[in-house]
Formats: sequence, C-alpha cells, structure tokens
Amino acid sequence: MRESFGSRFGVLMAMVGSAVGLGNMWRFPYMVSEHGGAAFLFVYVICVFIICLPIFFAEFVVGRRSQSNAFRAFEKLAPGSQWKWVGFVAITAPVIILSYYSVVGGWSIQYFFKSCTFGFTELVTQEYLDSMFAGFISSTWAPLLGHTFFLILTALVLMGGVKSGIERFGKVMMPILYFIVLAIAIWTATLPGASEGLSFLFNPDFSAITPSVCAAALGQAFFSLSLGYGTMLTYASYVSKKENIASSSVSIALSDLVFSLIASCAIMPAVFAFGLNTQGGPGLVFQTLPYIFSKMPFGGLVAILFFLSLVVAALTSAISLYEVGVAYLTEERKMSRKKAVIVLFVAIWVVGVLCSLSFGPLSHVKIFGNIFFDFLDKLSANFLMTLGSLMVVLFVGWKMKKPDVFDEFTNGGTLRGNVRLFRILWPVLRYVAPVAILVIFISNLIG
Ligand code: TRP
Repeated sequence: MRESFGSRFGVLMAMVGSAVGLGNMWRFPYMVSEHGGAAFLFVYVICVFIICLPIFFAEFVVGRRSQSNAFRAFEKLAPGSQWKWVGFVAITAPVIILSYYSVVGGWSIQYFFKSCTFGFTELVTQEYLDSMFAGFISSTWAPLLGHTFFLILTALVLMGGVKSGIERFGKVMMPILYFIVLAIAIWTATLPGASEGLSFLFNPDFSAITPSVCAAALGQAFFSLSLGYGTMLTYASYVSKKENIASSSVSIALSDLVFSLIASCAIMPAVFAFGLNTQGGPGLVFQTLPYIFSKMPFGGLVAILFFLSLVVAALTSAISLYEVGVAYLTEERKMSRKKAVIVLFVAIWVVGVLCSLSFGPLSHVKIFGNIFFDFLDKLSANFLMTLGSLMVVLFVGWKMKKPDVFDEFTNGGTLRGNVRLFRILWPVLRYVAPVAILVIFISNLIG
C-alpha cells in the first residue's frame, strides 16, 4: 500500500514546507535587489498568479489523478506515449538542484553554529562580515562539512517515511519559522530610514522591466513554488481524493508569496537604514543579516533562531526534492526506502562537492562563463524548470482528456467553486500559460 498524508493541515504544511525555503529567504531577497526592487516584485506577483498557479493546478491534477511517482504518472495517464520522458526529467532534475541547494543549506548550518557562539553580537563592520563570508565559501573544508551534514539530516528525515517523517516535521517547524521572520521584519520597520527600503520594495519604476527581469522573476516564481520538477506532483500523489485542489494550491501559493515578502521586509529596509550595499548577490542573507543582528536588541538570540529556522526551511524543501527520487526508486526499481535514500545520497553528495568547491579551489573551472554552482542554478531556474513546467501544462491542456481534468479538479463535479473556476482555467492552461512561458523563455534567450 502507498503511504499518504494523514491530515489536511499536514498536507498543507508539507507543501508549504517544500515551497518555503532558501528560495524565499536567500534567493528572493537578492533577486529583488539585483533586479531593481519593486519592478521585479511587480512582475513576480503577476507571474505567480497568472502563470504559476495554473501550473500548480496542473501538477496537482497529474499527481493526484495518477497516484504515482513522477515517472509513472505520465506513463499511467498517457500509456505508451513519449510523455514518460517528461517524467524522466522530473526525476533527474531534482538531483541537480538538490546538490547546490544542499551547499547553501550547509552554509546555513555553519552560520547557525557561528551564531550559537554569539559571533554576531559584537559590533562588527559590514566589511568584516563580507570578507568572513567570502573567506568561508571559498575555503575547502568548512562548506563541505556543512553540505555533508545538511544532506545527512535530510536523508535521516526521509528514512522516517511520509507520515511520521515528512509530515510531522513540517507541521511543527513551519509555523515557528513564520513567526521569527515576521518578528525581524517588524523590528526593522521601526528603524530610522527604513521607509526608503520599503519604497525600494513597493514603489515600482516600470521602465526597469526588461526581458531579463521578466525571465528572472518567472524563474524565481518557479523555484519558489517548487514547480516543474515533479515535487508538487509527487506530494499531490499522496493527497486524499477529498481535498480541494484549488483552495489548497491557492493557500500554498499565497503563503509562499507572503513569506517572501516578509523576508524581504526583514532585509531590505535594514539595508537602507544602515546604508549597506543593495547589490547583495547570493551572500545577502549571510552578510547583511548578521550585521542587522549585531545592532538589534537580543540580536544574538534572534540570530540563533533565525539561522535555525533557515536550516529548517531549507530542510523541508530539500526533503521534498529528495522524495521525488525516493518515490521513483522504491516504486519503479523496487528498492527499499533505505537503499533508495543511500543511492541518491551518493549522487547528490558528489555533485554537491563540485558545487561547493567551485567557490574556491575549482573557481577557475567555468562553464559558459559561470562557475559550476551558478551554472547549475541558472540551468535549473531559467531552463529546466521552465521546460518542466511547460511540459506539465501542455500535458494537462492538450494530452489529458478535458472530462478527466475536470473530474479531478472539481472532485467529480461536487465542488461548485472549482466548476466555475475551471471555465477560466481551461483556456489558461491550453493557451495563456504555455504562450506566456514560451515568450518569456525565448525573449530571454535572444536578449
Ligand atoms: N521551493 C524551494 C525553495 O524556495 C526549493 C524547491 C523545493 C524547489 N522543491 C523544488 C525548487 C522543486 C524547484 C523545484 O527554497
């Protein structure tokens, strides 16, 4: 018998746990600051509602209808067709993303340990924190140790299975995380000079919207909502037939969006208030936040809580990525759960080691002008996820039969609101979403 989630709240928290992660706290703030603040945010919100929500519905439909892992799902719903290759990509891609995700998870663990020794309480300068971060990620052993430790933690939760491992973990930790980041955001809002940061975030300069801003926003939205890689599809396959696909997806997307907003409200106003550099880059969370903590009352304690929750958020997302492969190996290759976890561990760990070293000893190795880490990040967010998402909407819109999609989306026609929503959703799935994804994708390639 396949395992499934035990409760409605548990399902939601597991999916929110997958969505909310380093994408919100680490990637989102630096994407916002690199791509012009409010203009990026504006495009991002549009991407979430017009493009990503329909894709979310589509992944949900495929997963729950097939009740299978990402590979089997396509094969089951379209037997004998070439669509199974989409499933195949959906299985291998998470390994790619997880390998560099785990490296950043490892940084978070190391920063958690640093905060435990109250390393961020004395009045440090920004230069000091910058060079500490640069020195840390370019060193050989400390980041490797973090990466290894992070991956081991993820593997341990996964061995516990769906209900007792994944579900129990998310249920407790996700609400705590929200609370901490909200508290930091409220504190930074009271800083003198914070308003400039808020206007950077919320007062858009529409002329700053370029194809590359759109592509970055869409890529970020895919990344943050865990789309295109079979993650939500796999989780959806554990969801009960009674659940409402539309309302669950909307709550998950909203929680994720709100979380990203709170995280940037915790960071950007402080960046302005303290006159720090807005072009933070991937180090923003690790360089800027510790500085903020050093100025905050009880900052030492807040730092500990913050980095702990960062690790937890990263873990729940990593777990969801890992589970895609585990579901495949246990169901299709008949491996035991334990063996599947170990096989994947080896693959992810090795690629992760290369990512980690690409900041230091291997920094001279460039692929298309990027170090290995950046190459994998761009490959997945701007290319593979786009492709994966495009395939899922095309599959649901053009390959599955309309009555089947309708049946799954509306629980056999019993959910009135969903029946109405379906009328809009269907053309969006068939035309609007695929065309929008293609346009953004191509315009980014050309220019
Ligand atoms: N959404 C997660 C985050 O924001 C990362 C993640 C989990 C992910 N599963 C995914 C990204 C699947 C892409 C695809 O941190």
